[in-house]
Amino acid sequence: MAEGSRIPGFYKLSLAARRQLVAERAGLALGDLEHALEAGGLDTATADKVVENVLGIYGLPFGVALNVRVNGVDRLVPMVVEEPSVIAAASNAARMVRHSGGFRAEVVESLMIGQVQITDVEHPSAAVARLEAAAPRLLELATRAVPNLVARGGGPRAIDVRDLGQRCIVLHVLVDCRDAMGANLVNSIAEALGPLTAEIAGGTLGLRILSNLCDRRRVHVTCRVHARELVSTPRASRARGAEERNLDIDSLEVVDAIVLASRFAELDPYRATTHNKGIMNGIDAVVLATGNDFRAVEAGAHAYAARSGRYSPLAVWRRDGEDLVGELELPLALGIVGGTLRVHPTARLALQILALESADELAMIAASVGLASNLSALRALATEGIQRGHMSLHARSVASAAGALGDEVELVAARIAGIGSITVEDARRALGEVRAGDA
Ligand code: MEV
Repeated sequence: MAEGSRIPGFYKLSLAARRQLVAERAGLALGDLEHALEAGGLDTATADKVVENVLGIYGLPFGVALNVRVNGVDRLVPMVVEEPSVIAAASNAARMVRHSGGFRAEVVESLMIGQVQITDVEHPSAAVARLEAAAPRLLELATRAVPNLVARGGGPRAIDVRDLGQRCIVLHVLVDCRDAMGANLVNSIAEALGPLTAEIAGGTLGLRILSNLCDRRRVHVTCRVHARELVSTPRASRARGAEERNLDIDSLEVVDAIVLASRFAELDPYRATTHNKGIMNGIDAVVLATGNDFRAVEAGAHAYAARSGRYSPLAVWRRDGEDLVGELELPLALGIVGGTLRVHPTARLALQILALESADELAMIAASVGLASNLSALRALATEGIQRGHMSLHARSVASAAGALGDEVELVAARIAGIGSITVEDARRALGEVRAGDA
């Protein structure tokens, strides 16, 4: 992304101008970008081959988050989401984080887990020991099941066996799936291992399937924001007569309020659930845009959030001097090859816009957008509340629906938000007044 992901005023451009700009920045032909976005990218005949009982296509908005910098690299991040303000909020928080150098992210291990269940085991602890001793043989068998993955540098890496009680044991095979999400690869391996595992264990073969609690394929992201970045309108505060020092105190209060919001989520599963929903607003939108399995991601994220036995926030925030520091960790199995990407031009377009080199990069970017979404939500909740921002964005889209163009959108949106009645009818009236030059 040679020119970076910062594009001031992007939201004010016409849709055509936004497409043009993103095509240029991503080094794509405008025609290719337009083609991939036409009618959601998927035609009915293709959709009919993807799932069953097809009647048509269900469209969702495709946008890009701006300002995202992960490990020093700028990215325009495609997001698919129906909820207003999610993309703006992520872009806004990413801009604040950018001032301190952007997000730092890493993928921990990058191994998927396949499970083989064995039931009716006569002597479970002896069976566990026999399977552990047979690990080299089992790994060899697993390796033979996925020759193409092995040729790409991936493959089975380790065997883990646990006694679950009630004469049931489970064998885990850990697999490096490289740039694939890996569900099919891992399921193939688990099925290939099944009969030999049951024979060695001396039990009955049960399920053979991946685990979506892929806690050996985790993403860890941190970010740092100086307090001053959290105060949205410093000029407005100054205009109200605040001195520089007071301004600092205000912004540090915002830092403390966000830390308290984080503590609330750490203390209360009811709040942690909504806190995590705000994180998944960002992550799911990237997961969907890139054609990945959002149900798998959701299942893994929430199971991980509950790993201590108590449902907890996936991201926490602390104060460090005048900085707010955020940290997020979750399991994230994403692919940039195979699956939906084979059939969905818009998902392929999303990957081109991201200019990725690996699935790990995609996971780090998606998690960074999740942390940005969380920051934006907590900042709004800890200060003016969430509704004001939502309402002003809603006012903008109502103004556009009423026919406002270019600069008229902001003027009309400000009028209808000001009178507190955000309807198309009021927007049309306000548009008439704006065009008549009525101050
Ligand atoms: C709304 O989609 C997400 C929030 O509820 C998240 C949160 O409360 O942290 C605003």
